[in-house]
Amino acid sequence: MRHPVVMGNWKLNGSKEMVTNLLTGLDAALAGVEGVDVAVAPPVMYLDLAQRLISQGNSNIILGAQNVDVNASGAYTGDISPEMLKDFGASHIIIGHSERREYHHESDEFVAQKFAFLKEHGLTPVLCIGESEAQNEAGETVAVCARQLDAVIKTQGVEALNGAIIAYEPIWAIGTGKAATAQQAQEIHAAIRAHIASFSAEVAKNVVIQYGGSVKAGNAAELFAMPDIDGALVGGAALDAEGFAAIAKAAA
Ligand code: G3H
Repeated sequence: MRHPVVMGNWKLNGSKEMVTNLLTGLDAALAGVEGVDVAVAPPVMYLDLAQRLISQGNSNIILGAQNVDVNASGAYTGDISPEMLKDFGASHIIIGHSERREYHHESDEFVAQKFAFLKEHGLTPVLCIGESEAQNEAGETVAVCARQLDAVIKTQGVEALNGAIIAYEPIWAIGTGKAATAQQAQEIHAAIRAHIASFSAEVAKNVVIQYGGSVKAGNAAELFAMPDIDGALVGGAALDAEGFAAIAKAAA
């Protein structure tokens, strides 16, 4: 049975004060919530503070990060390795976010390399896939998602997806307030799962596929009621403790 995962991607937002208030508020708001894994990905700057705050709380919040690099150590200015993330207790690492694909020109192959590197170091990749508005309008959604997944499947084998998380994020829904409807999202999630099933039915059945793109307390329950939607990757709404906790509760 798949277990839903609701993860907050804080993107480029935070200060010591904000991290403290958000995590303290979240810990209180999540008291007694079971049946969903809740994770947060602050900017790496704040992992140390977040790790300390989470360890003082009661809610078993999982710590994550927003990116990783493909080298373990050495002369790679500005880069962050899997072992550094592990050192601060971060386990769920977002890769292939459309903002990194666009602003940092990350290719499918580069993202797949990150995927392999995370697995090698015992970390959980949260692999973002999803189509642009133009691709959506051209009817290319499933083909784009399949291509992004195949960069991993065809180089590492479909079993590499075991234990990983896939986040389907239509780019046109990110930060726009224009979420996919639950039916639209379900249709694509089912197609993604069917694509994985063409390699292994077992892997497809077990892999967590989150939806991301303008998820908020008001639309979460409807999305999570769909059979192939296993939680969410949340951006803007994850910056408010009460709102994010309400999304997590809708998945529980
Ligand atoms: O990683 C999260 C997504 O990009 C969704 O962002 O919830 O602000 O639309 P959003």
